[in-house]
Amino acid sequence: MTEPGAPPPLQVTRLCEAHIPAVADIERQCFSQPWSEQALRLLLIDGQGVGYVALEADGRAVGYAGMFLAPDEGQIASVAAHPAFRRRGAGRAVLRALIADAAARELERLVLEVRVSNRPARTLYLSEGFVEAGLRRGFYTHPREDAVVMLRRLREETGAGADGRERET
Ligand SMILES: CC(C)(COP(=O)(O)OP(=O)(O)OC[C@H]1O[C@@H](n2cnc3c(N)ncnc32)[C@H](O)[C@@H]1OP(=O)(O)O)[C@@H](O)C(=O)NCCC(=O)NCCS
Repeated sequence: MTEPGAPPPLQVTRLCEAHIPAVADIERQCFSQPWSEQALRLLLIDGQGVGYVALEADGRAVGYAGMFLAPDEGQIASVAAHPAFRRRGAGRAVLRALIADAAARELERLVLEVRVSNRPARTLYLSEGFVEAGLRRGFYTHPREDAVVMLRRLREETGAGADGRERET
């Protein structure tokens, strides 16, 4: 139940054409090299990409996440929450939607890169079962910075569950 006075819960839905202008605005608010509307539309191509948006009660998009689909993995391209709506669960909600989507597609893993200095995002990913798998030196520009590669296993030969946690035997 929602606590009295708490903001109404966000609704998460699949990214579609109608969300593209609002999502492009979130990109501009969040990144030094934002994706254009045209680039974001690549996430709408069936079988190539997929995205999810978090919507306020009035339908305003306040967060989104998108990934590209490879045969065995989902490559997360972006997770972002509008700066005016941070720490309200939008980032986690859209990331969880991608994880659930990837699990439903029976992908083996999710991968992403994140700036070394991006503590909020790294904390979020760690809390959702991602592990740090490597470093890409000088991966980012504007400003130049290394990327941490993070990995979330969805299917595990060693017997971990779909939630990525190791199972006790
Ligand atoms: C990273 C980002 C998406 C998080 O979105 P958000 O909606 O504010 O996050 P949530 O409210 O869902 O928080 C989920 C968890 O993330 C972590 N987190 C979020 N902001 C944090 C901060 N400023 N410091 C530390 N941890 C933070 C916490 O673990 C948090 O859980 P908690 O609130 O229970 O402690 C958001 O900060 C953002 O859009 N950043 C700019 C874009 C970006 O860098 N994206 C990642 C690219 S790889």
